Amino acid sequence: MTQDLRLAVAAELERARARTALLTDAVDDNDLVRQHSPLMSPLVWDLAHVGNQEELWLVRDVGGREPVRRDIDELYDAFKHPRGDRPALPLLGPAEARAYVGQVRDKALDVLDRVRLDDGPLVADGFAFGMIVQHEQQHDETMLATHQLRTGAPVLDAVPPPQARVELPEEVLVPGGAFTMGTDTEAWALDNERPAHTVEVPAFFIDAAPVTNARYAEFIAAGGYDDQRWWSERGWAHRQAAGLTAPQHWQRDGDGWACTKFGRTEKIVPDEPVVHVCFFEAEAFAAWAGRRLPTEAEWEKAARFDPATGRSRRFPWGDDAPEARHANLGQRHLSPAPAGAYPDGASPLGVHQLIGDVWEWTSSGFHPYPGFRVFPYEEYSQVFFGGDYRVLRGGSFGTDAAACRGTFRNWDHPIRRQIFSGFRCARDAGPELT
Ligand SMILES: [Fe+2]
Repeated sequence: MTQDLRLAVAAELERARARTALLTDAVDDNDLVRQHSPLMSPLVWDLAHVGNQEELWLVRDVGGREPVRRDIDELYDAFKHPRGDRPALPLLGPAEARAYVGQVRDKALDVLDRVRLDDGPLVADGFAFGMIVQHEQQHDETMLATHQLRTGAPVLDAVPPPQARVELPEEVLVPGGAFTMGTDTEAWALDNERPAHTVEVPAFFIDAAPVTNARYAEFIAAGGYDDQRWWSERGWAHRQAAGLTAPQHWQRDGDGWACTKFGRTEKIVPDEPVVHVCFFEAEAFAAWAGRRLPTEAEWEKAARFDPATGRSRRFPWGDDAPEARHANLGQRHLSPAPAGAYPDGASPLGVHQLIGDVWEWTSSGFHPYPGFRVFPYEEYSQVFFGGDYRVLRGGSFGTDAAACRGTFRNWDHPIRRQIFSGFRCARDAGPELT
């Protein structure tokens, strides 16, 4: 078991690094050090930051080894420098950053070979290694978002996502009652996903798939962006100040819309989930449609609750790790897939594409679960609780399976839309169905 775990951890570290290399080798040095948007770090910052976190946690903390580069800790501390300031820092150059992350990785693998994996909670079940794998994969998704903001000739390629295979109903009834939210058993779950606890959720309807481009275009055509009725007070103020008129990367194309994906502009695909909308846009669409966004608990119940057993599954399709047939994850495709493309990934209640495709905005702020305990450090989750964030669930086409599960929680500011964010709607079912 222990040897198997070591091999599995090493394979996950290797897989994350291959993706980091793909994202950073795809562009020249100028593109690596340039800032493509004030919202994003230069790619070369993400690269060395990934190595620095690996050094701090695996080499120094778990391994008890001497620092590789203590002098650069401050530069790559995300709390010390906002993204907009990072290009002006004396960062490692591309060649230096690559050498540094390679050096750290060699030491981390040596630590992995020697560490006792039953030696305390930080290394139990390989947790610290899993945390670092997830951290690198999360930065890879961030780097993918930077690629989407980059201008110039396309540099990334992937096969198109699968076609729709089934027709979906508009919405699905989730029966009222208690379910288990969060986890005590998921080995690499982060502190904010813990502990498992019971939540009472009244009956509600939820969309069988995320809201599509075609539906979203109807909202625009109906004047949704110009009608204050559909927007919250803050949402309307932001819509006005930011001049929002359509999702980010959309542009008029005759009577319809085109969008730019990773440097290629094409007509929008009507039945693909809309992506690059902020929370306020999602909220306005839902109001226009006579609906609302689901709460975080509703989303998780729709994704995990099995009415036959009363148990919460790891994933909508069951407890098995995601395979290509279940969900659009891991940057295999550079786009969400049409609604109905993943029947094998549906939940027991028949809700589709909860995992992968697009991060889904929920109406919930980011708060600790009852019984929350900081692990292993406050800066992972605790410092963000109660801030101006909304929780997003489910992962996107750019999220790796290692950083995605039914309990995984993401959070961001409600105005953000450079992330791969979409949504689905919900509505109350009324007491007769509870
Ligand atoms: Fe980070």
